[in-house]
Amino acid sequence: MSIRLGDIAPNFQAETTHGPIDFYEWMQDSWTILFSHPADFTPVCTTELGAASKLKPEFDKRHVKMIALSVDPVASHNEWVLDINETQHTVVNFPIIADPEFVVSNLYGFIHPNASDRFTVRSVVIISPDKKVKLLITYPASTGRNFTEILRVIDSLQLTANYSVATPADWKEGDDVVVATSIKTEDIPAKFPKGFTEVKPYLRMTPQPNL
Ligand code: BEZ
Repeated sequence: MSIRLGDIAPNFQAETTHGPIDFYEWMQDSWTILFSHPADFTPVCTTELGAASKLKPEFDKRHVKMIALSVDPVASHNEWVLDINETQHTVVNFPIIADPEFVVSNLYGFIHPNASDRFTVRSVVIISPDKKVKLLITYPASTGRNFTEILRVIDSLQLTANYSVATPADWKEGDDVVVATSIKTEDIPAKFPKGFTEVKPYLRMTPQPNL
């Protein structure tokens, strides 16, 4: 089975480096990022977990809980975390799910058999507090993820969840945003008092409304 945007993220129970969890109970009412790794003691994954743990304060600021997954058992994760801490000069400070039976990996579609039937791909799933899947990104084993880009996407997801706007290409916090096409041009001044620019009838820009 696989998941798609807008689906309810499936619940599961799993062993993690922070003890057993029920995923929904662990999430509580937070935004969540669940990201899969092909295997323990692999070079790119080691750098990714180091990068992710260094950025945890930024995820915390956005009220996003972080949880990683690798198909190896908890004892292996615990050994690997020591290596990550040592080599990446950090402290891995979020749980890593152990998924030796591929239960969670199959539930979320992290195994892409034509890429590898032994390793999960590098997937990122962002889940909103109402448990809906808001973002899916998949990278091959050979390409490490850019966690700063993931933070940028979270900023967009959280902004567009609360305002009738969308974010343009390469948008970052503080840049102008696109007024949703569902808003009539004559209704924009009341909704966006900071003003707007009509570039085309279908492309109306306004300053980021929550700043
Ligand atoms: C890595 O993390 O470096 C890796 C993992 C699985 C296959 C290839 C590379």
